[in-house]
Amino acid sequence: MRILFVCLGNICRSPMAEGIFRAEAEKRNLHVEIDSAGTSAWHVDEAPDPRAVSAAASAGVDISHLRGRQANAADMADFDLVLAMDQDNLHSLKRLAGPRHAHKVRLFLDFARHHEEREVPDPYYGGEEGFAHVLALLRDAAQGLADHLQERS
Ligand code: 4NP
Repeated sequence: MRILFVCLGNICRSPMAEGIFRAEAEKRNLHVEIDSAGTSAWHVDEAPDPRAVSAAASAGVDISHLRGRQANAADMADFDLVLAMDQDNLHSLKRLAGPRHAHKVRLFLDFARHHEEREVPDPYYGGEEGFAHVLALLRDAAQGLADHLQERS
């Protein structure tokens, strides 16, 4: 099972999602390959935003080594599940995926059970509290996704 987390810049939400879900998968001994990417090329090869690094660290997860990359058409064939952080990402990814792979593209928060929101808000232009909220959403969805994969296997 290969899972790709995608946001706009690949320096805030999706690297946090990657780190948080990797920790959850390891805890449960799930065999998954995990990566993240951005729909834009704005932050290719950059480390995650320092606010994303500290929010993830507050959950015991180190994401400082991750580097930005842009999602591409080959990813849509290579991954089994492509999880978008918001509707904009979802639309960009469905276009990239085409009819053959569009079924793999979903909103990550569709797996969250303790929050009503279905989009992870872009925290880039906000403050630290935005990152704390993103973290809470991602932890909820990470647990829901891990439960889903365990139920299937
Ligand atoms: P991300 O956040 O999509 O969660 O990585 C953003 C990072 C950078 C920008 C926008 C959103 N930007 O405009 O550069």
